[in-house]
Amino acid sequence: MALNAPIGVFDSGLGGISVVQEIRREMPNEHIVYFGDSANAPYGTKTPEEVRRLSFAIVERFINMGVKAIVIACNTATSAAVNDLRATYDLPIISMEPALKVACDRGHGEPQHVIVAATPLTLREKKFTALMNRFSATNTIYRQPCPDLVEIVEHDQLEDHDLVMRTLHGYFDGYDLNAIDSVVLGCTHFVFYRDYFRELLPATTAIIDGNEGTARHLHDLLASAGKLASSDSEGSVTLKNSDTSERMTALAAKRLNS
Ligand code: DGL
Repeated sequence: MALNAPIGVFDSGLGGISVVQEIRREMPNEHIVYFGDSANAPYGTKTPEEVRRLSFAIVERFINMGVKAIVIACNTATSAAVNDLRATYDLPIISMEPALKVACDRGHGEPQHVIVAATPLTLREKKFTALMNRFSATNTIYRQPCPDLVEIVEHDQLEDHDLVMRTLHGYFDGYDLNAIDSVVLGCTHFVFYRDYFRELLPATTAIIDGNEGTARHLHDLLASAGKLASSDSEGSVTLKNSDTSERMTALAAKRLNS
């Protein structure tokens, strides 16, 4: 496989572009092909079978393009499909799960109160329950589905401050936020809301996402396989989407440059 072959990154829509931003920072020499499945978004309210079928179709496209690795920049598609994808395809597949370990480790042994914000599918799947079981004996963990936060990004309403804050209050006003040590952004769309979460949460509550860890993991994996792009290669990002409208093309570019 050529070192300068692209890395395929995909998500149900625009959320995974937040992961692309991090990969660019970590690995500016790499060529990235991003596929957002906005025509089929959201994934988080679909059945695991539907999400698996859609994920396989995207990975097939990437294989036909000759990618050297795939990043599932979607916690939901990871929950539904990563095991089957890895069993089927013989190339590195990097996936994402809510960064609950990072949130709990911050306590250095002190019990933590953590809210995991993610899609309904991620929070109900076996994968997340298994992750939660590793930490729930010593920490208090709340699952908070936030499906509307996906729709707001897909509908280009992220700059609507009132709408976003109203939506966040709807999801989080039931908590005593002063008692929450961290909020985990367990959906790649939610990473675009970091400043809004900062406005909502007390200064003592940490906001944690898995994007940086994912980019680092991708780097280490390619480095150990000797597959990093050469250091004189000028990296690039190609944005593709199942919604081929001009509106979506412009919106994807706007998110990448945000
Ligand atoms: N961005 C996705 C994730 O990380 C899911 C969004 C959706 O529901 O489509 O889980």
